[in-house]
Amino acid sequence: MLMLFNLFLVACGGATATTSGQIVPTATPTLRQTATVAPTRTVQPTATRAVQATPTPIVLPTSTPLPPSPTPTPPPPNFDENVAFKHLQVLVNDIGVREAGTPNHEKAGDFIENYFRSLKLQTQRPLSSFDSLIDRGSGLKLTANGQTEQIKGSSLRFSTNIKVTAPLAKAGQALNGSLTAGSLQGKIALIERGGITFADKAKNAKAAGAIAVIIYNNQAGELNGTLGSDVGMPVIGVNQAEGQKLLVFADQNAMVEFTVDIAVEKRNFSNVVGIRPALTPKSPNPPVLIIGGHYDSVPAGPGANDNASGTVIVMELARVMQTKYPDVELRFIAFGAEEFGLYGSADYVKNLSQAERARVKAMLNIDMVAVGNTLYFGGNNTLVQLAFAGASEVGAGDVQAMPNSLVNGSSDHAPFAQAGISVLFFYRGEDPNYHQPTDTSDKIIPSRLGLVGNIVIKVIDSYVIN
Ligand code: BES
Ligand code: ZN
Repeated sequence: MLMLFNLFLVACGGATATTSGQIVPTATPTLRQTATVAPTRTVQPTATRAVQATPTPIVLPTSTPLPPSPTPTPPPPNFDENVAFKHLQVLVNDIGVREAGTPNHEKAGDFIENYFRSLKLQTQRPLSSFDSLIDRGSGLKLTANGQTEQIKGSSLRFSTNIKVTAPLAKAGQALNGSLTAGSLQGKIALIERGGITFADKAKNAKAAGAIAVIIYNNQAGELNGTLGSDVGMPVIGVNQAEGQKLLVFADQNAMVEFTVDIAVEKRNFSNVVGIRPALTPKSPNPPVLIIGGHYDSVPAGPGANDNASGTVIVMELARVMQTKYPDVELRFIAFGAEEFGLYGSADYVKNLSQAERARVKAMLNIDMVAVGNTLYFGGNNTLVQLAFAGASEVGAGDVQAMPNSLVNGSSDHAPFAQAGISVLFFYRGEDPNYHQPTDTSDKIIPSRLGLVGNIVIKVIDSYVIN
């Protein structure tokens, strides 16, 4: 509570609001509806004389009028983790998987929007879309020595479609100038990841006569990726272990049945924005604070921790902050389509005008905070320090600064940071059910919702002086 509003401006004002960053995902926005509910909030009169309820026989010995006593404004409610957990049960148990572009994502959006409306926030549901890659049955089947084996792999974005059976041929990393013309004629090139882009590998293999390309990973993990643009080549990625297997088969003149059958589908989705305008603005364009988290889940599971946990903290903060920070405009945002590439947040930032961007003094992102022992804070140094201070006030246990690699790109704060806006990212590691069907509501520890909610309040209390 001690930091002056001055610091708020100095730490996070115009100087940091650059627009140098490039936002990678591109979403196409159109305004579906701006369901604006006019704020019915009225400012409490502060100098009305208290009404005396019971007449009293005692006559005051003096005619001096009583000083006006202010009508007490009810204190803001406390963050209630049980209220937050009830919202979570709706999102996770009643609605379930919230894959962007599906009716369930919209159902969840409706639920959040209706809740924001019930709090008398102004709501917005700007419609956006993104391109999603559909795999209708790509695959690899090997035949060597009379035996066949299915190999697991996935088509790269911008691969061309094909169904062909041809011999496999090793092509190293297919670096520029390493392949002789015609050396891969009519073959399926087996290429190791590394050195140059996937697209350049595919181009080099094509120039050497290859008709299709398999790229295997040079480290653990699946190889999913993009060619960036159409280079006229079918390309499938496989993991390192499958790559090693294929190398052996290549030495045995194995034949490969190679199928790429992909399509791009446009999917619609929306963010859900609840705005609490400044109640007593000090200027026509008061400062804006954004508190957000994504409400979509991966297709594989109902995303209780990732990220119903963050969503419901945002919802509960919207309730408890209704009358707080009256000079500031608060925006509570549930972002859509995060799991397919931060589309909702990227879209939101892209559509902020320069003037709007300059008003945004901070963006707090809450993503995956109800499972795991350590709570991480990442982003703007001033905000991270406030989070540490808040955490010790609320007794949050093990807290740590987040590794920079995670701050940079893994969730919805990233597009804001790239636009020069100060961000604070809350996240807990160690979720064994991350992106699994088992990320369910029974794994959620409600007190963790309360802890993060209260740290957010402490951070903003310190960041803004009323
Ligand atoms: N909730 C995660 C972000 C996350 C995961 C933060 C693990 C820290 C550790 C988020 O929903 C997610 O899965 N993000 C993707 C990237 C995104 C651009 C699709 C990720 O981290 O792989
Ligand atoms: Zn997430």
